[in-house]
Parts: sequence; C-alpha cells; structure tokens
Amino acid sequence: MNNYFFMFSVIATMRDLKRKDKLVEAAGDAYGKTLFLAVLDVCNDESVKQCINGIKDRHVDVLINNAGIGLVGPIESIPIEEMKKVFETNFFGVIRMIKEVMPDMKKRRAGHIIVVSSVMGLQGIVFNDVYAASKFAMEGFCESLAVQLLRFNVILSLIEPGPVHTEFEAKMIQDVKQKEYPGADPDTVHYFKNIYLPSSVDIFEALGQTPDDIARCTKKVIEASRPRFRNLTNPLYTPLVALKYADETGGLSVHTFYHMLFNMGSLMHVSVMAMKYLTCGCLRKRTISPS
Ligand SMILES: NC(=O)c1ccc[n+]([C@@H]2O[C@H](COP(=O)([O-])OP(=O)(O)OC[C@H]3O[C@@H](n4cnc5c(N)ncnc54)[C@H](OP(=O)(O)O)[C@@H]3O)[C@@H](O)[C@H]2O)c1
Repeated sequence: MNNYFFMFSVIATMRDLKRKDKLVEAAGDAYGKTLFLAVLDVCNDESVKQCINGIKDRHVDVLINNAGIGLVGPIESIPIEEMKKVFETNFFGVIRMIKEVMPDMKKRRAGHIIVVSSVMGLQGIVFNDVYAASKFAMEGFCESLAVQLLRFNVILSLIEPGPVHTEFEAKMIQDVKQKEYPGADPDTVHYFKNIYLPSSVDIFEALGQTPDDIARCTKKVIEASRPRFRNLTNPLYTPLVALKYADETGGLSVHTFYHMLFNMGSLMHVSVMAMKYLTCGCLRKRTISPS
C-alpha cells in the first residue's frame, strides 16, 4: 500500500486557475507528471460534473474533500443568506463530490473518501455557531454513510483539525475588522470583540498546527492498512472533546467553556501561553499520528 501511494496521480483543484502559481512552485518537478490541476467549484453541480468527467474513466481512488469556509460572529448580525453559503460549501459541497464519485467506487468495491471536518464538528465553540453546525452536519452525514460504504469496501475517514495556520485564520481576522455587527446588542459585540477574539488569536498562536501537519496526518490515513474513521490531528483537543461524553447532561462542557471564556480572562492567556511552551516540539510531533 505504501508504494502504491506514491504511484497516485494527484488532481489538485481550485476555483480560479489564475491562483495556481504558489501551488505550481511548491509542486516542483511533480507538476505535469504526477500533479495536475483542474477547476472546481464545489457549490456548482456543473463544475463538479465537469471536473470528474475530465478524469480518465472518471476513476478516483481517493477523494479528499478539503474546501471549506469559516464564519464567526454574533448570529444576530449574520444574514441567513451568509449562513446558507457556509452550508452550501462545507456540507452540500462535500455531498456533491461524494455523489459524483461514490457510485463508481461502489461498483469497483474500492475507494477511500476523506472529509476534512474540524474539532468544531465534535464540539461547538462560542461565536462559531453556524460553522460548527455545518461541520456537525457533515459528521452526522459521514457517520451514517460510512456504515453503508463499508458493505462495498469503500472507506470513509474524517480528519478533524483544531486551529491550523492557513488563510482561514487571516480571512477571519480581516473579515472581523471590516464588520460592524448591526443587530447585535453592545454587550454581545463586546464579548465577541474583546473577549472571544483575543482568546481565539491566543489559541491559534499557541496550539495552531501547520498545513504540513494536516497533510502528513492525511497521508498516514490514506496509507493505513485499516484507516481510522475519526482522526483528531491535535491531541490537545482530546480532553475538550471528551468532556461532552463524560457528562450526558451536557452541563459539564457548556459550563467549562463558559468559565474558560468569561471567568478565566487573563489566566486563560497565561495558560494558553504556558501550553505553547510546554508543547513546543515533542507533543506536536505526536499530534500527527493517527494512532
Ligand atoms: N484553518 C483552520 O484553523 C481549520 C481548522 C479546522 C478545520 N479546517 C478545515 O480545513 C479545510 C481547509 O481550510 P483551510 O484552513 O485550508 O482554509 P483556506 O486557506 O481558507 O482554504 C480553503 C480552501 O477551500 C477552497 N474553497 C472555498 N470554497 C470553495 C468552493 N465553493 N469550491 C471549491 N473550493 C472552495 C478555497 O479556494 P479558493 O482559493 O478558491 O477560495 C481554499 O482553497 C476546511 O474544510 C476547513 O473547514 C480548518
């Protein structure tokens, strides 16, 4: 299986090929030999069809669903249309792709579908209500589908990163700077801007992984002889996710997150920074092992 992995032709997709330069540079010699580019908008039925039709025999061994958009802020100030866009990309976008390749995988009794979810697909985080909901929806969809697919020898795996340093984070900060949050009361805007956002920046800084960490984790999942269904990439999040299963009433996780955000204040900053130094090398290496 390991050797097989390196024989894959990779088709990397993007909505606008004008933005390909960074990827082409990173691909080096692989570009045009084992790495090819194709246009894909996961929100568009026709684009999804065209992309898969462009592949020889429409044969896909491994489908990696990575496209996703974030959304943070008080829900009072977010139009429903904007919320729908998040579901259109993070949820229906993945389903569109799966529907396009799954029948052939089932026929061949072979294939691996990978979905990049998030820790927020397992545990909701304040002010990320709609984004978390879109990832929860994906988790429920995958949990259900994985059972049927197993019958056809098709594997489904979820990758669940915590914070990762990508444009996602920059887009969020940029977006927040530009917005006024009409419709939200001053207290809520204060909690969002002056309490949630600084904590979020701290957490990204202290616990953030790199895209390479996530790629290595994904590669291990693809190469595994028995790929796991769930793959949390950052073990520092395991205790947070476990809280909800430790108390069936849900109170423990709701109150823990409340205290972390509203009562720990500067202590939270110090704890996150302490965690950053404690986990700087050794633990982070362990984060990318699916086992
Ligand atoms: N960064 C994090 O902290 C974090 C944490 C947990 C999970 N995740 C998940 O990781 C995945 C990758 O995110 P990222 O951090 O790499 O964010 P990113 O840098 O913003 O990249 C997101 C990618 O999705 C693509 N995309 C968005 N809408 C699309 C559409 N309609 N059709 C096709 N492609 C589309 C974007 O393409 P364009 O260049 O065309 O916009 C971009 O390449 C997402 O599913 C995200 O939810 C991220």
